[in-house]
Amino acid sequence: MQRFTDRKVIVTGAGSGIGAATVARLLDEDATVVAYDVSEAGLAATTAAADEAGNGKRLTTAVLDISSEGAVAAAVDAAVTDLGGLDVLVNAAAIQRCAHTHEHTLADWNDTLAVNLTGTFLMTRQALPSLLESGHGVVVNFTSTAASFAHPYMAAYAASKGGVLAFTHALALEYSKQGLRAVNIQPGGVATALAMSTLDKMPEGYDIGLWAKQTPLIGGRDNEILGDPGAVAAVIAMVASDDGRFITGTEIRVDGGAHA
Ligand SMILES: NC(=O)c1ccc[n+]([C@@H]2O[C@H](COP(=O)([O-])OP(=O)(O)OC[C@H]3O[C@@H](n4cnc5c(N)ncnc54)[C@H](O)[C@@H]3O)[C@@H](O)[C@H]2O)c1
Repeated sequence: MQRFTDRKVIVTGAGSGIGAATVARLLDEDATVVAYDVSEAGLAATTAAADEAGNGKRLTTAVLDISSEGAVAAAVDAAVTDLGGLDVLVNAAAIQRCAHTHEHTLADWNDTLAVNLTGTFLMTRQALPSLLESGHGVVVNFTSTAASFAHPYMAAYAASKGGVLAFTHALALEYSKQGLRAVNIQPGGVATALAMSTLDKMPEGYDIGLWAKQTPLIGGRDNEILGDPGAVAAVIAMVASDDGRFITGTEIRVDGGAHA
């Protein structure tokens, strides 16, 4: 499938997990992509994968902290200039800090909101004029099942993802008449650095039983409980392409039925 021929795309969080899988998928479908991440090593791996797939010529990468207002403005403007416009923005970058809520530090709370929620806002705000100019712009944001279904020991993360969920709905309505679509991807557990380190991040004395409701109904990657990042990237490719033309202002849950 080549649904992204002549489509210009920015992806954040592109150095790992779902963001990296999304870059690979959209390049395979002929997109031209500018990919951002705070991790230089992660971006190098994403570039190497693109080169190996023969798609490296359509990928540019740069280090960016999406929580920095000035850096985001410069990076999005540079990407739009390089690409010659913008059709799709995928805001995948995020961090996850875990603690008992009564012990959650204000620093961890603020950092989580700064990256996950404010970073998503900053990227979107800067990209909006170009996305509107394209006439068919799409913003793909990342909420989480943590936003809609109780997850323990990650209050800041859940709150940040609830904020993204609401932000995306507001965006979808406000710009609907200008052809913009805004969609939340709502993953459950997916095999990435973020999710595979969740148990290591659990606080002293945590109750594993509180995780019982998160079990998927079908097998994920290697038939384990965590899903394959490529399965989420496939949904993003559908949503961001013209195949998703009647989808906006909603969540697409990709959780193997964990919250059925
Ligand atoms: N993996 C899951 O189970 C799961 C579940 C629900 C939602 N999500 C969401 O999916 C999205 C992708 O996450 P993932 O699981 O692939 O995680 P990941 O940790 O593999 O990738 C996240 C990437 O974001 C980058 N990043 C972190 N802070 C940044 C910043 N300030 N600026 C730019 N880049 C930054 C990291 O370096 C990393 O490469 C996230 O929004 C996450 O919250 C993931």
